[in-house]
Amino acid sequence: MNVNKIKLIHFRNFLEVSLDFDDSLNIFIGDNAQGKTNIIESIYTLLRGSSYRTKDEYNLINWHEKQSYLLGEAEKEREHFQINILLQNIDKLDLLTKRIKKIIKVNKKYQRRAWLKEKFYPVIFTPEDLQIIKSTPSIRRKFLDEIIINLTPVYEQYLKDYNRVLYQRNVLLKTERNKNSIDKHLSIWDKKIVELGTLIIRHRIKVLQLINKKVKDIHQLLTKNKETLKLKYNSNVLTSFTEDKQEIEVMFQEILENNKEKDYRLKMTTVGPHRDDYSIMSNSVNLGIYGSQGQQRTAVLALKIAELEMIKEKDQEYPPLLLDDVLSELDSYRKLFLIQLIKERPLQTFITSIDLHDLTQYDFVKHSKIFKVKNGMVEEQ
Ligand SMILES: Nc1ncnc2c1ncn2[C@@H]1O[C@H](COP(=O)(O)OP(=O)(O)O)[C@@H](O)[C@H]1O
Ligand SMILES: [Mg+2]
Repeated sequence: MNVNKIKLIHFRNFLEVSLDFDDSLNIFIGDNAQGKTNIIESIYTLLRGSSYRTKDEYNLINWHEKQSYLLGEAEKEREHFQINILLQNIDKLDLLTKRIKKIIKVNKKYQRRAWLKEKFYPVIFTPEDLQIIKSTPSIRRKFLDEIIINLTPVYEQYLKDYNRVLYQRNVLLKTERNKNSIDKHLSIWDKKIVELGTLIIRHRIKVLQLINKKVKDIHQLLTKNKETLKLKYNSNVLTSFTEDKQEIEVMFQEILENNKEKDYRLKMTTVGPHRDDYSIMSNSVNLGIYGSQGQQRTAVLALKIAELEMIKEKDQEYPPLLLDDVLSELDSYRKLFLIQLIKERPLQTFITSIDLHDLTQYDFVKHSKIFKVKNGMVEEQ
């Protein structure tokens, strides 16, 4: 799929900018704090209906303005989409929190954000993605869960249902003082927790296996056959590894039962897939703990490419690839690998970089569209 054009009005530090994109490679060059990441963010927001950088969407509107427009045209499976997003600051003086109104239209029809989310899933790679390897389990779960949602949209509902039941179970543990009454109610919640939690665990195991299949070759190429990458699911629910529905349900029920006293004491649910994690292993070494910065970066790159290939397999075409500031962080071998990969595939890519120096050596870059970004203005070269 491609994003053909975009028009930004009062988005971040842009007053009004219209850009026509290349089907293949688009490069944004500029010094720090000029608006390169803002462009990547605008393309992402146009396709997903919300930003990856901030939850506070009033930040997307130019500081001196009340509203912002994101207008764009995209193409997927030979269908054309005209996407318009209006962000309006509806700040009221009597309210402390800033409020925003968002109106999404696709081909002139109102749409919900969920519509965009199900339709378009660009793959984005930023320096912060190193956190997938280095940071807390919740960030790793989010990365995996998002891949699963893109492959199997109904999974998002399972997650929502699970979290709702989990919330209700925790409210019960927090508020109810009578132990007998807790016991009676818990058995109702536990049945649901086990059912939904098992669904989640099985999806995660299945998709991790898919990722493992895809990522292995890519990562071996990236490390000149020196390293083998493997993701391993660590569930606090599974006392022994299994994918079998019934076996997982039995284990889950048992571990909930065994942790009941602890849950009473701590007034929360201490076991379940909301606490699960997975390790990212290279040659049996946990990269999150022992990996060098370079190894971690390589692993994330391999994971992102695997994600790209998995979406391609599902949709029969590549989603756009957004690379913010990542080229400068890769050594020349990995950079060449990435450029080659982009070149060989029918894949639309958006790259930001401080300068072109590193890139002009690649012939293919000469045929790409190059944009200069300076202080909220964009000029095609
Ligand atoms: N809502 C906003 N209104 C105006 N300027 C903004 C807004 N949000 C961010 N900026 C500014 O946009 C500038 C460019 O940001 P960014 O795209 O991250 O730069 P870079 O080119 O380094 O990627 C920053 O100086 C930032 O202060
Ligand atoms: Mg930036």
